[in-house]
Amino acid sequence: MTQTGFELRAQDGKARTGVIRTTRGEIRTPAFMPVGTAATVKAMMPESVASTGADILLGNTYHLMLRPTAERVASLGGLHRFMNWDKPILTDSGGFQVMSLAGLRKLTERGVTFKSHIDGSKHEITPERSMEIQALLGSDIVMCFDECPALPADRERIAESMRMSMRWAARSREAFGDRPGHMLFGIQQGGLEQDFREESAEALKEIGFDGYAVGGLAVGEGQGAMFSCLDFAPDMLPQDKPRYLMGVGKPDDIVGAVARGIDMMDCVLPSRSGRTGQVFTRHGVLNIKNARHQDDPRPLDENCSCPACRGYSRAYLHHVFRSQEIISSMLLTWHNLQYFQDIMACMRDAIAAGTFDAWQADFHAGRAEGDI
Ligand code: GUN
Ligand code: ZN
Repeated sequence: MTQTGFELRAQDGKARTGVIRTTRGEIRTPAFMPVGTAATVKAMMPESVASTGADILLGNTYHLMLRPTAERVASLGGLHRFMNWDKPILTDSGGFQVMSLAGLRKLTERGVTFKSHIDGSKHEITPERSMEIQALLGSDIVMCFDECPALPADRERIAESMRMSMRWAARSREAFGDRPGHMLFGIQQGGLEQDFREESAEALKEIGFDGYAVGGLAVGEGQGAMFSCLDFAPDMLPQDKPRYLMGVGKPDDIVGAVARGIDMMDCVLPSRSGRTGQVFTRHGVLNIKNARHQDDPRPLDENCSCPACRGYSRAYLHHVFRSQEIISSMLLTWHNLQYFQDIMACMRDAIAAGTFDAWQADFHAGRAEGDI
């Protein structure tokens, strides 16, 4: 019996719904993965994250290798035990975070050396070391070690970078080996260029993975350019494997990605925004620090089932935000994560019912452009 796999249950246009089976439970797709970078979804208890409907969390190789170290997590029973989350965990492979967070860094064919953003200590990640770290953490879905240039970049730079990531993908596959119950995902690169996306997809399919990510997007190109790329990039990846768009996004980015054939996404937006006072609702975005909320007895969203909306007024949430009370981050993060998971549940239902286009039209019609 195979312990892991993907079952596509329905398709409506390009939008898909299904389940990814793992040894730690099923992931309903389209799936949104809350980000638990440092072995915590900030301001949330793991059981609260699960109660919003999240089936899987994302963790980060880069952060955990620096602190508390992968070896320490392994000696304490692995990341699931360490953070008290028993559902699936996907870990990103480190290269992308090194490029955005680390101090002085050097990229070679072998891998990347860098200085820690925490204490300036020197470290190296290679494809082989990334696979080792993700195994020590006990990640259910392991990501290939890759690299991507900031956009805009010239075609030559994009091609060179993509080809190196494809050589690293082959090394990742080799180093990962045969680990029943664990999945390895490849990452397509190639910027916004259709021919490079195609070359990258072909290279990954030749190697063979349990799932395929679309990487190198949401790096400053804008929604229009990202959607144009997603009009062709997911179609290049196997139909019968999950497709994961990395680091996306705002609610309308997520809906547009699902409409173009994406099955999984992750983003810090709902959790990070919860700490800066930005609130996502079905009517649009609001900032709770705005003075116009100070006398408002209404909840953030009258239709939301989260604790922030069931028990508290906008006036109270404004007050605790202004007072920098810890409960402000807790309640706003919970609400945002609930809202993102509610969108995913609605999309899964609509795709299964064959009503995704109508649902998408309603989604856009109900939203205001500016702050609500
Ligand atoms: N997170 C967002 N984009 C990327 C990407 O292209 N590669 C990896 N590894 N992580 C990402
Ligand atoms: Zn709510």
